[in-house]
Amino acid sequence: MPAPTALPIWKIHADILRTLQGGNRLVLVAPTGSGKTTQVPQMLLDAGVAGDKMIVVLQPRRVAARTVAARVASERGGKLGAEVGYQIRFDDHTSVGTRICFVTEGILLRWLQDDRALSNIGAVVFDEFHERNLLSDVALALVKDLQQSLRPDLVMLVMSATLDAEPVAAYLNQCPILVSEGQSFPVEVGYLPVPDQRPFTVQAAEAVERILYEGEPGDILVFMPGRGEINGTLDALRGLRTQERVACIPLHGELEPQEQDRAFAPNSLRKVIVATNVAETSITIDGIRHVVDSGVARVARYDAERGIGTLLLEPISRASADQRKGRAGRTAPGTCHRLWTSIGHQTREERNTPEIQRSDLAEVVLLLHSLGIQEAATFDWLDKPDPQAVLRAEKLLTMLGALHEGRAELTPVGRQMLRLPMHPRYSRMLIEASQRGCVPEAALCAALVSGRDLLVRLDRDDAQMKGLREMFEDSGDSDFITLMRAYEFAKDNGFSFERCRSHGINAQVARQVEQTCQQILHAAQQQRLYERDSGTTAKGDEALLRCLMAGFVDQLAKRRVPGKPECDLTEQRQGQLVRESVVQEAAFFVAANLREAPSRGPNPLTLLSLATAVQPSWIAEMFPQHLSTTVEHLFDAQNKRVAAMKVVRYRDLVIEQKAQQRDLDPIA
Ligand code: CDP
Ligand code: MG
Repeated sequence: MPAPTALPIWKIHADILRTLQGGNRLVLVAPTGSGKTTQVPQMLLDAGVAGDKMIVVLQPRRVAARTVAARVASERGGKLGAEVGYQIRFDDHTSVGTRICFVTEGILLRWLQDDRALSNIGAVVFDEFHERNLLSDVALALVKDLQQSLRPDLVMLVMSATLDAEPVAAYLNQCPILVSEGQSFPVEVGYLPVPDQRPFTVQAAEAVERILYEGEPGDILVFMPGRGEINGTLDALRGLRTQERVACIPLHGELEPQEQDRAFAPNSLRKVIVATNVAETSITIDGIRHVVDSGVARVARYDAERGIGTLLLEPISRASADQRKGRAGRTAPGTCHRLWTSIGHQTREERNTPEIQRSDLAEVVLLLHSLGIQEAATFDWLDKPDPQAVLRAEKLLTMLGALHEGRAELTPVGRQMLRLPMHPRYSRMLIEASQRGCVPEAALCAALVSGRDLLVRLDRDDAQMKGLREMFEDSGDSDFITLMRAYEFAKDNGFSFERCRSHGINAQVARQVEQTCQQILHAAQQQRLYERDSGTTAKGDEALLRCLMAGFVDQLAKRRVPGKPECDLTEQRQGQLVRESVVQEAAFFVAANLREAPSRGPNPLTLLSLATAVQPSWIAEMFPQHLSTTVEHLFDAQNKRVAAMKVVRYRDLVIEQKAQQRDLDPIA
């Protein structure tokens, strides 16, 4: 390994220290591979910039936090977890002696909840800031706020390879910007001549084949959006017709640490590394001369149908594509093979939209409230979120019982929800489940809605498949029970692709459900909501139905006519339950999925699916704060006259209507 001091960032070593010894803020822009992540924290430590406090380096990705921490620890000749450590969700490698700590943003936000002043931290480094994650924007705003109020000594350093530095520097009260020009070699870019409709896993394998055929030396880096596509590409690569033997290596956050390290280890064969966008800028693998770019990534968006955040496959921006290309030209000239056309390239967005402007804010708004920030929309952000998105988040949190109505303050339930690293709908479900002894079932339900659809959509006249589907339909209580049984079937069959497909189940989704469910259970265990070996079992289906109601209570529906799909929702919305739902009888139900459908009438029609039957009395017990009772003079259909009626509403939806006794017997 060359001496780290030979890395380009050392040329501006003196400037970095001078700026931070004279002030407390800096924006640093230097190309990938120049040594920002591995060198700058060490420079700060050795120059005592953070005093005797810890230097925290925020990393958007867990893989990067772990691998760079290991690298820096070894450069300093220490053990990982001693002077240099890392902490990511479910994995803590730090000790009292840790001075440089690489963490994902969520961890810093957790620390802020425990200690609003971050008393033992002397410097916060925001690495890879161009990614503009929701949580990195939140962390930047909160640390800036802290620095201006309690901690003027706290050092803030924002680093990136591609950042548009001016707006960030302006936001940090016109702080200095340092730019280091790295060296790079030309990269020849190739596009598809015409769009190719085949799966990009297959296209990527063919591009790799061409590179090998042309015989130019150097390792190959393939960009794919996620684990599924990475595995698909590896499968396609197995069918390659080439003379040369190559080492095909996956790289993504869900691999075990030793498996991740394979990408970095020297190999006697030419390496073909198939990675997520963790390899775009966060980590550098030496020896790459060729890049194959699928051009897509999973991007967080607000999903209006499910009322939660979700990950969608989308084209990457031109700035991201250029970063990916640059990975081929670090040490010698290279090639970059883009699996889209040059015309398509022009229509791509120039830069990524900051996540704060497009994603679900419920979890963040909950966090801000816990820190006493009640005006999320007008807080001092680098880029402000959409006020509508903030309102939506606040309303959901109020409906779930996390915020006090009107007071915008956290309730005890809200405080408990805060400790669970997941969407508030799911944390609400889990808290309910912990009181009712059905945490594993609720965790499974949360996992079942948080990903793609487990069951393939049935053809209307596919009688055979319909018969198989009915196998999973247990009762008319909840569509979740059908999903749970289908999932159990997949699991009992070892997630076999054939067995699953023949029963209309997506095996890949089922596997993902298992992982997500384990993660949720782990979090529940850490918060002592559940003990794995306690032997507690669900107290019947009702417990689970109540949990599902707790997570989707804002999407309560009341059937208009018994047995018919038409129903009323709150805010005078009209809905219709899909025909496939098993909940065909219940007068009240909650739907986990709402979709606006075109309608003939004046009002939009909402299509409801993933329903769960509920009882109005449960709402009265669990959400009394959202019920109102009035006495109104209404037509009493039973007794055929106008009478004083007691009307109970959940928000504006009538859930109970009863003639007052004294009206029936006026003489009394
Ligand atoms: O953060 P930046 O992209 O500027 O660079 P870095 O991650 O600090 O990496 C600097 C150099 O260290 C890279 O060019 C790699 O050669 C080397 N490195 C490595 O070999 N193994 C790692 N796990 C991390 C860095
Ligand atoms: Mg870096």
